[in-house]
Amino acid sequence: MEYTSILVEREAAEKIAVVTVNRPDKLNALNLAVLKELGAAFDELEADQDVRAIVMTGAGAKAFIAGADIAELNALPDPVHGAYHGHLGQQLCFKIERLRQPVIMAINGYALGGGLELAMAGDIRIAAETARLGQPEINLGIIPGFGGTQRLPRLVGKGFAKLMIFGGDPITAEEGQRVGLIDRVVPQAQLAGEARKLAIALAKKAPLALAAAKAAINGGLETDLDRGCDLEAAQFGLLFSTADKAEGTKAFLEKRPANFMGA
Ligand code: COA
Repeated sequence: MEYTSILVEREAAEKIAVVTVNRPDKLNALNLAVLKELGAAFDELEADQDVRAIVMTGAGAKAFIAGADIAELNALPDPVHGAYHGHLGQQLCFKIERLRQPVIMAINGYALGGGLELAMAGDIRIAAETARLGQPEINLGIIPGFGGTQRLPRLVGKGFAKLMIFGGDPITAEEGQRVGLIDRVVPQAQLAGEARKLAIALAKKAPLALAAAKAAINGGLETDLDRGCDLEAAQFGLLFSTADKAEGTKAFLEKRPANFMGA
């Protein structure tokens, strides 16, 4: 598919892809076109057996994504259209969260509103020191609508999530790391390289095991410890049917690096 609002770049040799929201003049705000293109791009990448890890970022030095497009929000006429818009964003977040490949969010600047909500749906968040993270919807007379009221408290706890959602003020990348919203903070100039390096490292791991780990962690956090461990046991057991489990254990015994095929 041809994209006009995003860039999708594949590095075939490394088996990774980089998805960039490309509206820097609007700080990469999420209009309907961007939301639909991102949905199509992640579908396409999930089906591509030659892509084992994905980096998502924003174009330009200023913003990852400064939220949903406020001009479009302003034009939404009624609750039905508002709910549709929210659903579209929520579905994109679920798609990323459930994607079989790991998705690394390289947060290069403002991650506000829907931008932070998309970032929270990713697996690992690396932020530039200059990044700013926030849920400023309250200042527009609304609330987060792409899952932010749900994923933010799961990551940072109820109190700090309320501080951010009620207050609307952004926090720094460093504070984000302190509260568990960001996993690693790096100088702006190193962000793209660090995210790419991590993606390349993950692309060398067994893809089915990565997908199983992602499903067990994400699914387990939504249930109790017993059910979560059942989920883990099922995923663990399934991996014993894979060629990669045979290869990984054999390679260890033969004292050589494993060559995982994703089978
Ligand atoms: N939706 C639509 N357009 C947006 C946008 C958004 N969420 N965020 C930024 N833009 C646009 C601005 O309107 C401006 O467009 P223009 O040049 O045509 O006027 C352009 O991007 C640059 O933004 P600007 O506000 O001039 O940059 P700044 O450096 O002064 O401020 C922010 C940066 C991020 C603080 C500010 O843009 C902002 O508050 N954005 C909205 C954040 C928000 O509320 N997001 C949640 C939406 S639900």
